Amino acid sequence: MHMHTLERYWLMAVFGMLGAFGAALLASVFIFGISLPSPVGRVDPRQLDQTEFASPGVRNMGDNRYTAHIVAEMWRFNIGQGLGQPAEIRIPRGAEVTFFVTSKDVTHGFQIEQHDVNLMLLPGQIAQATARFNRTGTFHIICHEYCGPGHQTMYATIVVE
Ligand code: CUA
Repeated sequence: MHMHTLERYWLMAVFGMLGAFGAALLASVFIFGISLPSPVGRVDPRQLDQTEFASPGVRNMGDNRYTAHIVAEMWRFNIGQGLGQPAEIRIPRGAEVTFFVTSKDVTHGFQIEQHDVNLMLLPGQIAQATARFNRTGTFHIICHEYCGPGHQTMYATIVVE
């Protein structure tokens, strides 16, 4: 079978690149340990009152470390304050917060402005992320998954003092 020389070079280039991409993927997984964010636990979204999410809120673990249990629901983030109040977390500068978040109803998003936290909240799954807040200011937690007519009003605030 006749094959043009240039055609052969292109084929070699294509398979060479595929091999390089495959090798990079394998290296990232097995050498650098990179993985997709995975749920750290499962809960029954209809019975959150029988789980660690029964009383959402921020806990001071000492040493400027905090945990925050948050329940996302249409259309607010429940951080332990009552309905009607804007959900707010106040922490001192330098605080390290580990977020445990789940959804009570539909898929929501959880993204913290200017910080490296971006989670998808699926009912039944607990998502976890840790962030350090080194700058004072106000940062919003926003829902970035469309979740119904109130989606654009779904946010909470983190105040770093
Ligand atoms: Cu919750 Cu969009």
